[in-house]
Amino acid sequence: MNEHVSIPVPAPMAEPAEVAATRKVFIKTYGCQMNVYDSTRMGDALASDGYETTETMEDADLILLNTCHIREKAADKVYSALGRLRDMKKARAAEGRELMIGVAGCVAQAEGEEIVRRAPAVDVVIGPQTYHRLPDALRRARGGKPVVETDYALEDKFDHLPATAKAAIRSRGVTAFLTVQEGCDKFCTFCVVPYTRGSEVSRTVAQIVAEAQRLADSGVREITLLGQNVNAWRAQGPDGRVWSLGDLLYHLAQTPGLARLRYTTSHPRDMDDRLIEAHRDLRTLMPYLHLPVQAGSDRILKAMNRRHTAAEYLRLIERIRAARPDIAISGDFIVGFPGETEEDFADTMRLVEAVGYAQAFSFKYSTRPGTPGADLPDHVSEEVKAERLERLQALLLKQQTDFAKSCVGKVIDLLLEKPGRMPGQVIGRSPWLQSVNVDAKTSQIGDIIPVRIIGTGPNSLFAEPAERLIKV
Ligand code: 5AD
Ligand code: SF4
Repeated sequence: MNEHVSIPVPAPMAEPAEVAATRKVFIKTYGCQMNVYDSTRMGDALASDGYETTETMEDADLILLNTCHIREKAADKVYSALGRLRDMKKARAAEGRELMIGVAGCVAQAEGEEIVRRAPAVDVVIGPQTYHRLPDALRRARGGKPVVETDYALEDKFDHLPATAKAAIRSRGVTAFLTVQEGCDKFCTFCVVPYTRGSEVSRTVAQIVAEAQRLADSGVREITLLGQNVNAWRAQGPDGRVWSLGDLLYHLAQTPGLARLRYTTSHPRDMDDRLIEAHRDLRTLMPYLHLPVQAGSDRILKAMNRRHTAAEYLRLIERIRAARPDIAISGDFIVGFPGETEEDFADTMRLVEAVGYAQAFSFKYSTRPGTPGADLPDHVSEEVKAERLERLQALLLKQQTDFAKSCVGKVIDLLLEKPGRMPGQVIGRSPWLQSVNVDAKTSQIGDIIPVRIIGTGPNSLFAEPAERLIKV
């Protein structure tokens, strides 16, 4: 060490890292929660490369579109956004200011080189399996030629979270996503996921436990484990056995500081006994389950390659409710799958009546080129799809409203999450994933407090602080 040398030295030239520290990235996220998680991780990868994230597009030196390919028109939307960005890039160039444009996510994976052919303003195209290579891809793109990275990387992207970001995961509020599994081997005949996200890969227990602990240490109280087919997660546990998602939940429930666990999205075929037991035993595991069924007709379920019947799904719901009576069930539905008759659709309506959903997402079937569904005969007309969707959504909305109303008068645990719209109000999350407004101090954010539900709004509930927690 040169501690004793006191000769004045000239101020060092600005380090490249300092210059880079002024760069800003704006990330626009489309689609599912997995993309939300991936956007955060891309932000982390770029942070270690000197980028700050910004919420304002105009401030950004790099604009990243994290895209979704699940339904039609997604790619069209991306191309029209890219048209607007091309104009912005031109205007910037006239001012002598750089604007780099990146396309990430499932459209990037599906379209690859085609994107730079159709939108030459794009600098980087990066698939969901390679986003850890983003800083390097950007550096190479600065050489002038667009870079396309859509290989399935042999290395594990989860190992590539840069050390600096690892050490200083920013506090992201009191709830967070944690990806435990990616890809899907189910091959439902309408779905592009097995093609864009590839086959099922599970992260290791050690990786998941370490990330959960880091999140809890940074103030996160509720973690949602993510996977395209999350309940197919399997990995070797520290005891040498192969663990399923249920085992993982029992383990994570011990994480100091963590109060709540959730997981999404599940396939009915992968709801094993251990997972149902976890719902029975773990108070940390929230009583909410997103379990898509898509349709209620056995003929359509078969054509969709869902690998279960309507009766099997209903029986499963019964077993889950027996294990955790207060569980709220949520689902996804597709109307107008090729060949769907009025009678098939009536089966879907009957199944919805039989289950009683607390929350649901429903879509018109949208043809995805390259999936087996696209080649099936008897596509349903847009008018019929629209009319069926309207009927289904009316029923689902009624169930959702009935569920919200059934909460009025109950005292529940509320996780205070963020400031409300009115001063003196805080928005919290109920065990059933509802937004709840309550009078509280922002300093209480992160606390779980007992509140009494006193009313319902269109998308949220209203509550007052309760003295004591009386479980109803
Ligand atoms: N058309 C309509 N909806 C679809 N989904 C997936 N693929 C399609 C498609 N081709 C829906 C399913 C799935 C949800 C994420 O998106 O309901 O569960
Ligand atoms: Fe798509 Fe089916 Fe896999 Fe879900 S389970 S991601 S719908 S193929």
